[in-house]
Amino acid sequence: MCGIIGYIGERNIIDVLLNGLTHLEYRGYDSAGVALFDNDKVVVIRSEGKLTNLIDKVKGKRFTGSVGIGHTRWATHGKPSNNNAHPHKAGDVVVVHNGIIENYLSLKKELIKKGHKFDSDTDTEIIAHLIEDYMLQGMDFLKGVKKALNRIDGSYALGIICEREPEMLIAARNESPLIVGVGKNEGFIASDIPALLPYTRDMIFLEDGDLAVITKERVEISNQDKDIKRKLVNISWNQLMAEKGGFKHFMLKEIFEQPRAVTDTIRGRLNKENGKVTFEDFPLSRGEIKKLSNIYIIACGTSYHAALVGKFIIESLARIPVMVDIASEFRYRDPIFSKNSLMIGISQSGETADTLGAIRETKKRGIKLLSITNVVNSSIARESDGVIYTYAGPEISVASTKAFSTQITVLLLIALFLAYHRTGFSDSFYMDIIKEFVKAPHFMETILKDVASIEKIARKYVNKKDFLYLGRGILFPIALEGALKLKELSYVHAEGYPAGEMKHGPIALIDEEMPVVILAPKGYLYEKIWSNIKEIQTRDGKLIAVAFEDDHNIDEVADDVIKVPKTIWPLMPLVFTLPLQLLAYYIADFKGTDVDQPRNLAKSVTVE
Ligand code: F6R
Repeated sequence: MCGIIGYIGERNIIDVLLNGLTHLEYRGYDSAGVALFDNDKVVVIRSEGKLTNLIDKVKGKRFTGSVGIGHTRWATHGKPSNNNAHPHKAGDVVVVHNGIIENYLSLKKELIKKGHKFDSDTDTEIIAHLIEDYMLQGMDFLKGVKKALNRIDGSYALGIICEREPEMLIAARNESPLIVGVGKNEGFIASDIPALLPYTRDMIFLEDGDLAVITKERVEISNQDKDIKRKLVNISWNQLMAEKGGFKHFMLKEIFEQPRAVTDTIRGRLNKENGKVTFEDFPLSRGEIKKLSNIYIIACGTSYHAALVGKFIIESLARIPVMVDIASEFRYRDPIFSKNSLMIGISQSGETADTLGAIRETKKRGIKLLSITNVVNSSIARESDGVIYTYAGPEISVASTKAFSTQITVLLLIALFLAYHRTGFSDSFYMDIIKEFVKAPHFMETILKDVASIEKIARKYVNKKDFLYLGRGILFPIALEGALKLKELSYVHAEGYPAGEMKHGPIALIDEEMPVVILAPKGYLYEKIWSNIKEIQTRDGKLIAVAFEDDHNIDEVADDVIKVPKTIWPLMPLVFTLPLQLLAYYIADFKGTDVDQPRNLAKSVTVE
């Protein structure tokens, strides 16, 4: 997730670009840059680190032109650095991009063969070169852009300018948000509404496949080469509402971002046709994968719960023993490693001191380390032999939501990858998983369409003092995660338990005051769960069940039921997590706690 801005008009252009980027910094902040005209030439200014570094670089400078673009980056391809910062320039063409180009490596090879020289490791730079290449063949700027867009696969929101066209700003969108702002004799583009609110409230929301040519006088939009009219919308939000995308809290916004985050994390890595998974940076060779005897996964908090899901999936699909440990415990044990082990460290921030410490312990023993993190070039990423990034985008709310879903997504990809290399895909079961896997974002969207029913349940239980969360098998870690979300957000005591363990102790807690959230997918250990349900009912416990949409029996026995789309077991964690995040969110919101910054917690725990 990055932020892009663009302007054409008579205002002080550098102010418009920097002000816009300030409002977009929540989307990424590892580097930033602008490109704008000055005396008929395009000047590109970029800076690694926070936006303030860029602001310091341009302080006091004045520019004569009336068109420019800017970018604030959240690295995906290529670590944060000056060279990888946007805008990227090739010949006369300058580009800013938010998204992921899936076929950039093959296009890059093709362009290098033709003599193009690349300055960065980004996927974006190929877009500038591709347009330049078509212009070198004699096409004008607009034709060159159209031709280039036909060649690229993936997601993009683009702002493009050209030294030969000082009166034109081009914008294009596919699966990444992009808005055109319309003013009097001026036009804007931005990834999000807040960047434009100081200047205009009249906005056009581009749709997939749209290409907009913006001049001072007009905005012309086409899609598949056909001219098209899009509605002009007047936005009434205030600035703060706009930064949260109209949501009350960042957490709720991030819960709603999960279908997009999971799609981005799968994108370019999973071939839906043959089931093949590819990673840019996997630390083991094919031979080493074949010899792999066991995997250790370490993490903290929510990331630890993702690790527990990973154990289930990897053991089941790839048939490799997996041990999962809490990082702060692991580093003070004396774990036994075999020569052919792999260590996986999971951390959203990539900076958690406990995880970092455990990783360093392991590295001393000569074990290969793979990290799963959301922050490019974070400490954990730098110390690893290989990294797989989750493409969740910056997570602002302290309570982790979209990072968790994308971590599970990566673990599922790893399981399929290992299974492919060790067993091959002879079993149609694997292809069935892949077919269902690509539907996961859609399942999530279905749940998000009816949050009102979950809000209603939250209101009913808001004054309860203790909660029990129960799940079995692959959903036991989700019960743990549901309980963690509730306690950290609402300061209500909650415990997650494997449902089968209830009779070994926690059953003593159950009475009419105790709500029990039970994860009950029909067709998966269902008879066992059903026995737990009966045991809770007999003791007057209040039952909140999360169940498949076709399960009507559960309506008869549970006090409240949250229905989710039916899916197969490896995908259940992605589907069952959302209702629990929402339940915790609404209970906390009704209680009036500080949802985005719960007391005593920090987003990145860099102390032991
Ligand atoms: C809970 C939460 C924490 C983090 C934990 C690890 O909502 O966010 O439990 O999961 O502090 O953080 P990372 O993943 O950054 O290592």
